[in-house]
Amino acid sequence: MLKIENLKASIGEVEILKGVDLEIKPGELHAVMGPNGSGKSTLCHVVMGNKDYKSEGSIFIDEEEISKKQQNERSEMGVFQSFQYPVGLPGVTLLEFSKIINPDLSDDEITSLAEGFKLKEFLDREVNVDLSGGEKKRCELFQLTLKNPKVALLDEIDSGLDIDAIKSVAELINENRNNTTAYLIVTHYSRILNYLDVDKVHIVVNGEIAKTGTKELIEEVDSGGYTQY
Ligand SMILES: Nc1ncnc2c1ncn2[C@@H]1O[C@H](COP(=O)(O)OP(=O)(O)O)[C@@H](O)[C@H]1O
Ligand SMILES: [Mg+2]
Repeated sequence: MLKIENLKASIGEVEILKGVDLEIKPGELHAVMGPNGSGKSTLCHVVMGNKDYKSEGSIFIDEEEISKKQQNERSEMGVFQSFQYPVGLPGVTLLEFSKIINPDLSDDEITSLAEGFKLKEFLDREVNVDLSGGEKKRCELFQLTLKNPKVALLDEIDSGLDIDAIKSVAELINENRNNTTAYLIVTHYSRILNYLDVDKVHIVVNGEIAKTGTKELIEEVDSGGYTQY
């Protein structure tokens, strides 16, 4: 479970998050939607423990308060973040990286999991080096499944993808979704959400949750845009 209470975040003198409350139970998938620059990525970065941000408020994983913990501790406690722009790791193969993420898995287990993500032939290539946008996003979801975290923060997993790639990314999320992980999916387009079983939708505008609802909000955003909030 992820629970956030009155989370504020700033960089320098600029306040970006102005008091966000959110609770995602295990197995639930919440969508965070909002215009560019509204603070969606900041929310993910602050939950993950990125030190560029000064933050206050509380973040709980299950019953444990993590807001004073370092990024690597949060990762060990089961927080996973996929990146809007996944970075390449020259010199590290995907197989090597997979074993770092989950040392308990054998090569055979990693290989068979990679097959499900159509990434088998990428295992002996460097992580995210010379990959297409869609391949990088599949690779992020593969890492998510390897890690099986308590909290999955998926920041614009749909950005830069064509229609078919968005659908295939959504299908991978559905196939690998489980009832022990709390999912937070950030997007500003509704398209990917139409393929997913979304429990709640939060509209973030100007660093605050302007409205929370269920799937009907996706249509509301589609027809009226973000200026209505
Ligand atoms: N590292 C940073 N330095 C300065 N300003 C930042 C930084 N990161 C984010 N911001 C600012 O915070 C606001 C929210 O950014 P962000 O969380 O990336 O928005 P979103 O993901 O919703 O598009 C933007 O105005 C952005 O310019
Ligand atoms: Mg962003």
